[in-house]
Amino acid sequence: MKIAVFVSGGGTNLQAIIDNTKTGILKDIEIVLVLSSSPSAYALKRAEENGIKSVVVRAADYPSREEWDNEMAECVKASGAELIVLAGYLSLIGPKTVSMYSNRIINIHPALIPSFCGAGMYGIKPHKAAIARGVKVSGATVHFVNENYDEGPILLQKAVEVLPDDTPETLQKRIMQECEWQILPKAIRLIADGKVTIDNNRAFIRE
Ligand code: GRF
Repeated sequence: MKIAVFVSGGGTNLQAIIDNTKTGILKDIEIVLVLSSSPSAYALKRAEENGIKSVVVRAADYPSREEWDNEMAECVKASGAELIVLAGYLSLIGPKTVSMYSNRIINIHPALIPSFCGAGMYGIKPHKAAIARGVKVSGATVHFVNENYDEGPILLQKAVEVLPDDTPETLQKRIMQECEWQILPKAIRLIADGKVTIDNNRAFIRE
């Protein structure tokens, strides 16, 4: 299966996918495109180092949101990707791209949805909110993407304990290492194997 990975920042989740295509559970998966919302994303360097084609599609460079959305949809179509993986991608996907890739876009969110999600809950913020609320577990969620932030069907979740002396930073790091880098490649595997169905806004995994 061919996939496109959308990024905005450091790209550690992209790296986890790349590593799995080389030595892990994604050896038959080809990353045909890395699309970044920012020209300075370190994720672009990871793509270059691994010989993966990349492109920057930045909303600010287009006269309207519609044209930006069109360009994005065209880039993915031209790449031949069958699945779009949002891996630390910070923009809301436009309606054309969402409808063209209906049930074929997934996102990783660094909290257990429906907690600490929605507009503005990115980066360190979900972890700050989790600690401020005093939750005893947090984690990460892979979900399908629709036109609203963090609302599509949930595919996978993994939890870790929140420890009494955790800071937002220590919690973020543990969730990335123990949750995000594990469940995002796993979600791609399940979809590539045709094991995922969606019914009534719920995702089901066939064993
Ligand atoms: C991750 O925590 C991801 O869950 C969130 O943004 C962060 C991006 O990290 N959506 P990276 O760019 O993959 O290193």
